[in-house]
Amino acid sequence: MLFLITAGPTREPIDPVRFISNRSSGKMGYAIAEAAIEAGHEVVLVSGPVCIAPPAGARVINVTTSDEMFEAVHSNLEGVEIAVLCAAVADFKPANYSPEKIKKERGLENIPLIPARDILASLGKLKKNFFLAGFAAETEMLAQNAQKKLREKNCDVIVGNDVSGMNTGMESDHNEVVLYFKDGEILALPREKKSGIAKKIVNIFVSRAK
Ligand code: CTP
Repeated sequence: MLFLITAGPTREPIDPVRFISNRSSGKMGYAIAEAAIEAGHEVVLVSGPVCIAPPAGARVINVTTSDEMFEAVHSNLEGVEIAVLCAAVADFKPANYSPEKIKKERGLENIPLIPARDILASLGKLKKNFFLAGFAAETEMLAQNAQKKLREKNCDVIVGNDVSGMNTGMESDHNEVVLYFKDGEILALPREKKSGIAKKIVNIFVSRAK
């Protein structure tokens, strides 16, 4: 099957040297890409800036901003059967970009922000023929918040991630997730290495997408 996976953070530039970003290592998305390739699937990996090597065999499209990620995803949807949006896309971006570095003396008291485009929600709005998976990183009320995203972004599944603890989720090699499916099914995947979680996620998504 053909997977399209987004991973890593995006960077929203303020000026040539400053940006707004999110905490994200890209490890979960890259692990899913690797697991999909190992299972014999094809992968297009749209990646924000990360410090890990891309999985061999994936077609990697490197992007920086949320707008670039949006365009890369929408122009690579042809033939996609499973879309897994793992990226920690910035929710807001600076309303204005300064082409010159803003000098300290000038001060930077306010950075007006505008919402970035929501890539997951935009795919949910398409009359799509692919399985759509999103992620929800939450520090409280995981089930309610994840199920709200599932409905509002019209996904087939949301992978809920409790990031309130220090040893799962962001930047860690381990994770523990709960899958919330559109049909109401809930499946908890207990703590293990991200590579193990990724293999399970790939198997589950493939069987659901068929
Ligand atoms: N997502 C996206 N494009 C955005 C923002 C998020 O594709 N501009 C995707 C992420 O890849 C992830 C899911 O949406 O699959 C996360 O949803 P989001 O609403 O961003 O979660 P939070 O940022 O945690 O939202 P909130 O702050 O409201 O909890």
